[in-house]
Amino acid sequence: MKIIMLGAPGAGKGTQAIKIAEKYGIPHISTGDIFRANIKNGTELGKKAKEYMDKGALVPDELTCDLVVDRIHQDDCAKGFVLDGFPRTIPQAEALEKALAKDNEKMDYAIDIEVPDESIVKRMSGRRACVNCGATYHIVSAPPKVEGICDHCGGKLTTRDDDKPETVQKRLTVYHEQTQPLIDFYKKTGILHSVDGTKQLDEVFAEVVKILGE
Ligand code: AP5
Ligand code: MG
Repeated sequence: MKIIMLGAPGAGKGTQAIKIAEKYGIPHISTGDIFRANIKNGTELGKKAKEYMDKGALVPDELTCDLVVDRIHQDDCAKGFVLDGFPRTIPQAEALEKALAKDNEKMDYAIDIEVPDESIVKRMSGRRACVNCGATYHIVSAPPKVEGICDHCGGKLTTRDDDKPETVQKRLTVYHEQTQPLIDFYKKTGILHSVDGTKQLDEVFAEVVKILGE
């Protein structure tokens, strides 16, 4: 089962992708998480990616595509994977198609989580992420059991560097210009499904499960 999560920044791609990965036993691959891990570890890739991420811009395709193509060829992806935050541009989608076509494969589902811009800006101000494992919380809709502490690993919860309101606004503009065209791209290939991302977390997940099957 090979799945792409589409949606604006803060639509809930990561939240739903983690639940999909658990239920269907496939790896969750988030390019944002991979870049943030590289920034934390001070790698060359991390240094380059940070320049773009801090501005709310996209990291160039040439730094992104090979990384994902390598990742989906690892052994744990044999039964499928859920991509979160990739592809984000038409050239990225084409690179993914080309890489899979070499093995006579293609993506099975593209799930677009629909949330209007106004709700996104509100959501982002309440998001908290674990510095250690990257798990995501929301101070109102998905709070941790103990304030400021990750339920999974006990790590400290902080606000992401790119969640400042002005950077969120920029990320939304970039989304509409560069990523939204992917909705038509996947409509044409016949694998697009849309879900209402303004509902409660579990209701959104129930819609996703209806699409993917029990
Ligand atoms: P990335 O990490 O992918 O960020 P994003 O797409 O901006 O999306 P977010 O992670 O902010 O949101 P999400 O949809 O995962 O929502 P979440 O589940 O956290 O990318 C960051 C940056 O890296 C990019 O700006 C770019 O620079 C770079 N990058 C990454 N991939 C790239 C690529 N392929 N090419 C180029 N550059 C790339 O939910 C958000 C909040 O809402 C949380 O607090 C959550 O608890 C809450 N929430 C979730 N669902 C609900 C709900 N149903 N109701 C109420 N609250 C909810
Ligand atoms: Mg995310």
